[in-house]
Amino acid sequence: MTQQSIQWESLCHESEIGEGEARGFELHNKYIFAVKKDGRLYVYYNYCPHLGTPLEWQEHQFLDNSGTLIQCSTHGALFRMEDGHCLAGPCKGKNLKTIRHTIGNGFLAVDSQQVASLGRI
Ligand code: FES
Repeated sequence: MTQQSIQWESLCHESEIGEGEARGFELHNKYIFAVKKDGRLYVYYNYCPHLGTPLEWQEHQFLDNSGTLIQCSTHGALFRMEDGHCLAGPCKGKNLKTIRHTIGNGFLAVDSQQVASLGRI
């Protein structure tokens, strides 16, 4: 798939997600979330590779106490913000599903078709 054929769908302005913060979104009846680290946004499928449950413990709360790792609220698995790699927990060594995204005119947008086709991993 070439870059030009991707249909980008806007989620929010990049400034709406602060450094060390996360935000969840529903798009095409699928749940995804974005996190910002060192000024960069990363977007993942909200689906734990352990049992497929949503990761957050409250709305938009995806991070551990330190605010530096993504944490699954069900069994506590910890994932790196910058690549979704699981460092500890029942799914150690697995990865969150990365969602293709871009920033245009300051707005975070994701690959609409990729999100629509998300399912069980
Ligand atoms: S469902 Fe996420 S660690 Fe078990």
